[in-house]
Amino acid sequence: MAATLNLDNLPRTIELGRDGDGRAELAYVDQRLLPGELRIVRTGDWRAVVDAVKTLAVRGAPAIGVAGAAAVALWACNEGAADAAAGGCAQAGPRFLDALARVADEVADARPTAVNLAWGVRRLERLARVCADEGAAPHAIADELFAEARRMEAEDEAANRAIGAHGSALLPQGARILTHCNAGSLATAFYGTALGVVYAAAAEGKVARVYADETRPVGQGARLTAWELARAGVPVTLICDDMAASLMAKGEVDAVVVGADRIAANGDVANKIGTYGVAVLARHHGIPFYVAAPASTIDPACTTGADIPIEERDPAEVLPAPIPGVDVWNPAFDVTPAALITRIVTEHGAFAPPDAARAAMTAR
Ligand code: MRU
Repeated sequence: MAATLNLDNLPRTIELGRDGDGRAELAYVDQRLLPGELRIVRTGDWRAVVDAVKTLAVRGAPAIGVAGAAAVALWACNEGAADAAAGGCAQAGPRFLDALARVADEVADARPTAVNLAWGVRRLERLARVCADEGAAPHAIADELFAEARRMEAEDEAANRAIGAHGSALLPQGARILTHCNAGSLATAFYGTALGVVYAAAAEGKVARVYADETRPVGQGARLTAWELARAGVPVTLICDDMAASLMAKGEVDAVVVGADRIAANGDVANKIGTYGVAVLARHHGIPFYVAAPASTIDPACTTGADIPIEERDPAEVLPAPIPGVDVWNPAFDVTPAALITRIVTEHGAFAPPDAARAAMTAR
């Protein structure tokens, strides 16, 4: 049965705006509370955004890119410009720019693997320097940064919709799709990357079902992907990570679609831990393996996946009650070699893995 899609049921994940007093404010979905509670948190404090990124209240590569940019804008609007005005600075001088650089570094360092975070932060930092070189006052720069962060939200959704259209074209009618982690609307400003492909295909009546890996240890598949797809009206079946092989062996999976946190120049892809294993399984069973990500996830400075820093997180995520004498290894991501990837789908089209970085650089 074809899915009846209802994206109006999905919240916007990240939204920069103004509160009643005109202060800049970020509204975000606290993803730690899902699926039990859909809570929108509002903050004007950039440090609270850093904390939200570190604790996975806001997570997913594009979402943390947009949130990181918003954090810098919050600082500029609510602290930097006010401090400069109190100091009587008509133009943004080294004091303002140095403080902005310190904030930008702290935000960019909140998580190491998804390149979107640093990409978003540095984009705002560069803009601030250009404005300062033109003699702009701190409050004018703050307004520019606010507008730029808002533009990034809109660009993110537009890129995801384009990814969805390119990805949907790769899927057969009646597709049964397996996904890992959450690369959905919740992982972006809105719409999603891997799930953007699902939504675009569902809108064309092509999706029979999505299988969501639960995604140990944090459970992004179980808590977020399953919730999001059910809410959007897409048939979804939750499986434990160790069930994917059996499902594929039964012939129940037509395609795998996942997101990415960083894509190296050669097409190797870092994504949520467990993605590599799914790619190996897909290759064994002759199932196409698609990676859906915006061009901002491509990092030409990483020659291969070996150059991508892999975040290691708190052992308590794996073993909440420590067992004396037992060590825990908890890498949050792994690297899938380009050779296992059928296509990388970006807003610019669907590419053989090594071509994705070249195409993204040409488009930049
Ligand atoms: O640790 P997380 O939940 O931030 O990891 C997220 C993922 O691995 C996603 O698959 C990736 O960021 C792509 S999101 C569109």
